[in-house]
Amino acid sequence: MSEGTSQPGAEPTLVDWAGGYQPLLRMTKIFYGRYVPKDPLLGPLFANMAPDHPERVAAWLCEVFGGPKAYSESYGGYDRMVSRHLGRELREEQRSRWVQLLCKSADDAGLPVDPEWRAAFVAYLEWGSRIAVENSQPGAHPPPHMPVPRWWWVCDAVPGSRVSALEAGQPATAFELPGAGEPISFAQHIKPLFRERDRQSMRFAFDLWSHHDVSTHADAILARLQAGTMPCDGAWPPQQLDVFRRWVDLGKPA
Ligand code: HEM
Repeated sequence: MSEGTSQPGAEPTLVDWAGGYQPLLRMTKIFYGRYVPKDPLLGPLFANMAPDHPERVAAWLCEVFGGPKAYSESYGGYDRMVSRHLGRELREEQRSRWVQLLCKSADDAGLPVDPEWRAAFVAYLEWGSRIAVENSQPGAHPPPHMPVPRWWWVCDAVPGSRVSALEAGQPATAFELPGAGEPISFAQHIKPLFRERDRQSMRFAFDLWSHHDVSTHADAILARLQAGTMPCDGAWPPQQLDVFRRWVDLGKPA
């Protein structure tokens, strides 16, 4: 299954930020393999699940979080998912245990722990699990043939949208801007312009400390720097911007 779907310069999808389908599968395997079987509320519900149930739920989540439409294309899509909850009369205590143990499995699987990703992740689990309970009640008529939902970051809590309290006061890497007419190199002048937090914010798309990556995406990076949308905590001063522009004009030397 393909991993990245974000375009450089755009916000990452939730699944890109999580590292793709594989980490989600790691999580569902832990959930259905380690926690569910021994849980008195959940164990009986999943006692006869298909052997590929963890793959199916991971594919659903991957699609919901902005990844490829694999659940729709290979596993039956929305109608299949809804049909598996129909008539089960799920109870609130089972729902909340399901969410609790899936969050625990996310920790075990090494899924992101940053506040932004977890807020989006938990918001979806709360939303989806409450709908699953609703759909499972006697006499429920879930609307048929709906698309698989596509979930996104909650409100404006996107990666890099705030300065972490743990970063405050960290000195920026010391760097010296080259004088007018001086040669400019990536290693000496461009790389130090990007802080660790800038690098982290963009890691889903490319590496801001890599000459190859920055050269390849130089136009998109320059456009965002000029628009002041990168870095997210404040536009560069004109002198820095000018150095980056000159480096591009000089043919992006290493
Ligand atoms: C966001 C919430 C949820 C998602 C995304 C989700 C996802 C899914 C999917 C995709 C399937 C069908 C897999 C397939 O056969 O293709 C499924 C089946 C099932 N789900 Fe959920 N589910 C959610 C909430 C819950 C909750 C809260 C419970 C119970 C506490 C639950 C119990 C079940 C059961 C019992 C099945 C059938 C398992 C089997 O095939 O034997 N689900 N779920």
